[in-house]
This record gives sequence, structure tokens and C-alpha cells, in this order.
Amino acid sequence: MRLLAKIMIVAMASCADSSSLDEGECTGKCDGHHGGHGGMPAAPPMIRPAPWTGTLATATFTDQNPDPKIVEVSLTAAMTEVEYLPGKRARVWAYNGSVPGPTLEAKVGDRVIVHFTNNLPEPTTIHWHGVRVTNAMDGTHRVMEPIAPGATFEYDFTVIDAGTFWYHPHVRGAFQMEKGLYGGFIVRDAAEPAIPSTAEEVVVLDDVLVDPATGALKDLENARTMMMGLEGNLLLVNGARSNMGISVRAGEWRRWRVVNAALSRYVKLSMVSGDMIRIGGDGGLLAAPQTATELLLVPGERADVLVSARAPGTTATLRAVPYERADGAGATESIDVLRLVATTEPARTPAAVPSSLRAISMLAPSGPTRTIRLGEMVHGSEMMFTINGEMYPDVPVINSSLGTVETWNIVNETAMDHPFHLHGFFFQRQGAGEWKDTINIPANATVRLLVDFEDHDGAAGGWMYHCHIIGHQEGGMMGDVMTR
Ligand code: C2O
Ligand code: CU
Ligand code: CU
Repeated sequence: MRLLAKIMIVAMASCADSSSLDEGECTGKCDGHHGGHGGMPAAPPMIRPAPWTGTLATATFTDQNPDPKIVEVSLTAAMTEVEYLPGKRARVWAYNGSVPGPTLEAKVGDRVIVHFTNNLPEPTTIHWHGVRVTNAMDGTHRVMEPIAPGATFEYDFTVIDAGTFWYHPHVRGAFQMEKGLYGGFIVRDAAEPAIPSTAEEVVVLDDVLVDPATGALKDLENARTMMMGLEGNLLLVNGARSNMGISVRAGEWRRWRVVNAALSRYVKLSMVSGDMIRIGGDGGLLAAPQTATELLLVPGERADVLVSARAPGTTATLRAVPYERADGAGATESIDVLRLVATTEPARTPAAVPSSLRAISMLAPSGPTRTIRLGEMVHGSEMMFTINGEMYPDVPVINSSLGTVETWNIVNETAMDHPFHLHGFFFQRQGAGEWKDTINIPANATVRLLVDFEDHDGAAGGWMYHCHIIGHQEGGMMGDVMTR
């Protein structure tokens, strides 16, 4: 079965009908705003919300099971309306009625049961990004039939790793995730050292393309989005517009578990007039805290950080700064994501962060070395994204043995960055003792990964790896790993 919808490049000459955004502005002017990468239409200008005040929160689940070792919840995907811009309604697809969906929380060793109902007009699945679930629960077309409209499915697995994860559909993701289907997933471990934060919050970042006048979601299919993936014009923080200020006391640490749930947007975060310490990544805590002035989060990637404002009455700003992920693509202007507004109370003395957080041993290769080449081809009117010269599902299957550590050389042969993601297993970038499942592969660069095919319950089966710019994944840049 060929699942892949071939991508057609929209004729670049007719700017007016290639985009539903700002038709009035584009017509007659579009020759003037072509960027790089072969004369692409310009990206839509960002909406810059005025500063506002609020609290960081996401929806939560109700655990229906009294057993402390079982988290049992109900999750429904359905259409609803939310406000991305104040006072303006947007029709979205949401989990339990909110964007992001409720944050799933569990402890290492817990059994997680999710009673899922699909009330969407099309089939869907849920993938638990970064979570080492048993293969049958991975939510890909490889392991399950997509859940039909009106149907239910029971996800049931045991969580074995602590960390900041997330969940999202794994069919028609570019469409379904953009519509609002994603949520955070936190797994805690009582054995981890105490982190001296006064509050812990999930911060799920996304961007959407909205009509500034009506606040409604817009579609944009043009040569730029086909090539680069869709980037919206409004940055969302837990489903709300950016530039929210939260009231804090100077010197206190807030712990933010940040998820980049955007389809294509690279978010390079900078903490201006404040402090930021990275304590964790995709696969849980780092070995030691790292002072982070800047932090690049590619689509799918996570960071666990401590942040604080320095002096009473000052504001620390978490800012997304420009990052060019391809010639003419990526953020070109800074956007204020969140602000820590310190009260005039005297500053707290910042609590000491443990200097060592966790023991992480560096992986040593014991299995084969593989080369995975990321490519792109324009074939007539088709844009293809390839792995080793083929588009999914024609990419040759990788057969791996459980219990081995393989060396994967990810060779990016294109002029744009790609966020590489593997399901079901963690890897380390060679030389870096950090557990990851999503990593940037810069344009024209090679990144060497050590992939830990550790055996665990349900580790055998078919797993996916792909570019987490979902348009590229659906355009062919995806492959299968068979483990046994
Ligand atoms: Cu977050 Cu296969 O994806
Ligand atoms: Cu995943
Ligand atoms: Cu890509």
C-alpha cells in the first residue's frame, strides 16, 4: 500500500492563487518579496502580540484508577473552537477540548491506560513521542490500523524512562497537528535529585497560521511551504499567544519543561536579562546542569530548564531569536515568548542546583555502522524528500539486533537543516553523554549518532525514523527499522 501522497509544487508564477494569505497585499507585489532557495514566496509576517499577563497552565487528566501504579485516563479527539487571538474564535481539532491537550503525567514504572475515542471526521492515531512504549502501542501505521471516525482504541503501556515527552497523531500529521492535536507527557522518577524550583510548568510551543483579522486558522500551500514546511505567523505558548508575563519573585527558579510541537519552526531561545540553566533534554536529566544563554529547539525536541529573573522590579524575557534553517527560511525576527516579571519583594538567594544530576555512561558501538543520507529531489512538478535516494515506503528497511549499539552517520546532503527523530530507542550524539530522540542535522553536515537498541519489553518490531518537519516526513523522508 502506498500511503504517500505525492506533493505537487504550486506554480510559483501565480502568487495570488498559491496562497490564501493576504491576497490583497500579495497581488502585484509578490515579485518584490521573493526570498532565497530559488525565488520562494515570502513567509507571512509574524503577529507580535502586545505584552499581557497570565499564568502558565495546561489542561490535566483525571486519573480514573485508584491504583497508584496505574494512570488510567480518557482522551477524545474532536473539533472545537478556541481563541488564539483574544476575542476571536478559531475552529481547531483538539484533545479533550483544549490546545494543547491535557498534560499526561506518570511515574517511572506506572502502567498508563488511555481510552481513546476518535470523534474527528477522519482516521487518526496517537504516537507517544520519545516514550519507549511496547511496539504495538507506538501509534504508527506500521503497527496499527488508524482509528476510524467514531471508533475507540485502548493504549496500554508501562513507562520506563523519566523525562519530558509529548503525544501527537501519526497519520496526516502535517494536517492534524497543525489543527491543534498535541499534548505534553511528563514522566517523573522519585529517585531523581530534588530540583530547587518554586514551580514546575510545561511550556508547549507551536506556531499557527491565522488570519489576523478573524483569528481563524488558514491554509497555506505554496512553493515555500512545500519545500520548507509550514511556518505560521503566530507563536503559541500552551495554546495562547506569545508575550505573556508571569509574576515571579527575583531569584526564584521556575522549572519549565519546554516542548517544540511546531510542524517546521526551529525555536532558538535566548534568556534576556535573566538566567537559564538547562537540566534536561529529550531523554530526561542531563549528567550536569548547563548554563544556557541560547538554546535551539528543533521540531519534536524538548528542554528542561530552570529560569529566573535577577533583580526585584526587573523583567527577564525568553525570546525566540532569528535562526536561518535554510536559505531564506526560518525566523528572521525576534519574538518575545514569555516574560518573568519580578515583583518588588526582595530577591531570594538563588537556590543551588545540584552539580551532578545523573550518571550517564557514554555508549560504545557494538553493532554495524550505517549511513543515512537525507536528500531532496525535484522531479517535474514533484518535490521529493529522500533517504538514501528513495522516498518512503521505498527506503530500504534497516534490520537491527536488540542489545547492540549501532553507529548511524546521518549525512545531510541538502542545503537546509532537518530534525532527525527515531522512535522507540534513545541515541547519543557521539561524544555527548545525553539521551536524545530528536536532533538537528544542519545543512550539508554529518552528525554521528550512537543508537542504543537496548532490549526491553516490546522492543522488537517495526519502528520509524524520520525528519520531524512533518511536511518532509510526509514528502518521503522517513524509514523503517525492524528490531529483533
Ligand atoms: Cu513526534 Cu514519528 O514522531
Ligand atoms: Cu516519535
Ligand atoms: Cu526535513
